[in-house]
Parts: sequence; C-alpha cells; structure tokens
Amino acid sequence: MEHNLTAPLTFRSGHQMKNRFALAPLTNHQCEDDGMANDAEVKWLRMRAEGGFGMVMTCAAQIESGGRGQGFPGQLGVHTDAMLPGMKRIAETLKNTFSVVQLHHAGIRSPQEVIGQQAVGPSAHEETGSRAMTKDEVQNVIQDFISAAVRSEKAGFDGVEVHGAHGYLLTQFMSTELNQRSDEYGGSYENRTRIVREIIAGIKRECSEGFSVGIRLSPEGYGMPLTEVTRFCQELIDDGSLDYLDISLWDCSKESADEEFQGRSLLSYFTDLSWGDVKLVVAGKLKTPADAEAMMEQGVDFVMLGRAGILTHDFPNRYKVDPEFEATQLPVTAEHLESEGLSPAFIKYLSGWDGFVK
Ligand SMILES: Cc1cc2nc3c(=O)[nH]c(=O)nc-3n(C[C@H](O)[C@H](O)[C@H](O)COP(=O)(O)O)c2cc1C
Repeated sequence: MEHNLTAPLTFRSGHQMKNRFALAPLTNHQCEDDGMANDAEVKWLRMRAEGGFGMVMTCAAQIESGGRGQGFPGQLGVHTDAMLPGMKRIAETLKNTFSVVQLHHAGIRSPQEVIGQQAVGPSAHEETGSRAMTKDEVQNVIQDFISAAVRSEKAGFDGVEVHGAHGYLLTQFMSTELNQRSDEYGGSYENRTRIVREIIAGIKRECSEGFSVGIRLSPEGYGMPLTEVTRFCQELIDDGSLDYLDISLWDCSKESADEEFQGRSLLSYFTDLSWGDVKLVVAGKLKTPADAEAMMEQGVDFVMLGRAGILTHDFPNRYKVDPEFEATQLPVTAEHLESEGLSPAFIKYLSGWDGFVK
C-alpha cells in the first residue's frame, strides 16, 4: 500500500518538513545545572537531524525568567538571554531540519529541591506545598513564554511548541480540578483557557510572521474532559495562528478513559475536527514503520517518535531505504543507548523508566 511518510509537508507559516517524521520532545537531564546546552545536548539532537527526522524538537525547555518553572535537573533553559549561546549552538546544528523549541513551565510540579523555592500554580496545592500565583505573576509568566519564543527565533530556531500537556502549568490552568481561581484566569472554560490563548497571541504578535507555532495538549485527564479539549482544539484551529496541534496520546490506539466516549479510538475524536490548513501530529507507542503508516492512514499529517527516536537515531533514513526495516525494541543495553548518542546522564534518567535499560 502507498504511504506518504516520505512526502514533504508545508505548514501555513511557509516552513516545510522534508518528510513526516518528527522527533518528540524528550527530557534528558543532560544540560548544565544553569540550563545551558552543552556538547551532550548538541550531539544527541545532531544525530537525530542527521538521521533524517523532518522535524527535531528539543526537550521541554524552561521559560520562567526567575527559574521557578524548572521541572527537572539538567533541564535545557531558554528563560534568559544568558542561554542564547547554547540555544544558538543547537539551532545551528539543526539547520538541515525543521527545528523547534518546546516551551515548558512545570507549575506545581516544579520540585522544590530543584528550584530552591516554593513552587507556584493557578491555585494553592497541598500535596506539593505550592502556592497560588498572583494575577501579576500569571501575566509575567505569559510574557516569559512570549519572550522565550522571541529568544528562540533570535537563536535561529524555526519555531516553538507550547507545552500544554501532561499536567504541567498550562494544563493546571485549564484543569477544572487544579484551577480554583476567581479572577479572569479561572472559573469558566473561557477563563481557564485564557492563559494559553494569550500566550499564543503574544508569540504571534512579537515573533516574525513566518515563525512557526504549535501546541501540545493531552487529549483528556487532569480535570479536562475530552469534550473541552476537542472544543479548544477546534477554536485554536479556527483562530488561524497555529501550524500544528500535537496530541499527546501515550498510546495512539487507546480509547477514552471516559466510558461515555468508548467504542472508538481517542484519536478519532481529533481526526474528526475540521482541520483547515492546521496539521495534526500524534505521539504514543509508534514503534515500527507499520505503526507510523497506520497513523497516516487514520488521517494524521505527521508522526512523532519518542522512544523509537531514542532507540534508532536514523529511523527516517532507514525507513527511506527499507520501509519494512525491523525497528529496535525495548529493553536495550546502556551500550546501545551510548552508540545512539545518549550521554551518561540521559542513560541514567532512562534507567528509572520501566523496561528501558537492561
Ligand atoms: C524519556 C522521556 C522523556 C520525555 N520528555 C518529554 C518532554 O520533555 N516533553 C513532552 O511533551 N513529552 C515528553 N515525553 C513524552 C514523549 O514526547 C512522547 O509523547 C511519549 O514518549 C510517547 O511517545 P513514544 O511512545 O514514541 O515514546 C517524554 C517521554 C520519554 C520516554
């Protein structure tokens, strides 16, 4: 059967991917303590660009100028101008692909031992000991997201992806459970999604017309019903600012956790939206060429590989030569990961993931 995984894709910003393979954002703990990109980070990403990925995205990169949004030790920083030399090194390395920075704030999930202060979020949260942000702080964080995008463009990247998934700050604001605010950033659906809409509008306002903007969202969960997420996706598509929506499924073939929506794939609720010229990308257990082809058949525009991109740095190039090549499967040895360009810090982090390192 004919598949178009090797066909180029043009976004509304004018940027082009040379094929339909994107490297998923992958946290790796391997940058310097202050967030500066180093040789390890450059090598890991360079190998994926050379391996043929049409889009290479950085790991979640911290954006808050005060350092309060950091979620992990050794996390890439794009939060101050001091980070520009490292950012420029990465952008230069990714010149032969579509390069994207993932903009991230961990909110109440910022570990106190990493940020050295109390974590903040939309509302106070007993379990994590975090406190509610003032309205000024919310507006400062919106500006920090925007400034990080401007900085990414200045460093030479093609675009940014706003990380609105996985229970981090922006999900916390959108959540009916974690957001208990009574100002214009809490309460109604309109108010809970305001922070994301203001960030996207600000990036469009302050970056060049051709700078690419995408967003990653979780399909449901974290106090966000599927119907709200699909409604928000449709509004974002209709708004005309985005190049793509990245739906983080963790398992592309799964069904909704909500009984009401079971009986068909969770993905189908998203392919059913009216897409216009906004593109859809998904990630989640796409391990083999056949898995990626199946997504294209279901109406996805391009695919994101996380673990498969870790295991095989040149997955797209291999696919081009042999669309039936046998992909490496987990678990693998530390030596294998080293040969795929991972640093000791990254390998150590993956050792904590179930069934990864032998
Ligand atoms: C080690 C590791 C680190 C990750 N880091 C990030 C991240 O920084 N940002 C993000 O949005 N998702 C992150 N994810 C999720 C991946 O981007 C991807 O959506 C997920 O792994 C499912 O795809 P896969 O089955 O191809 O790995 C991470 C996943 C893994 C395994």
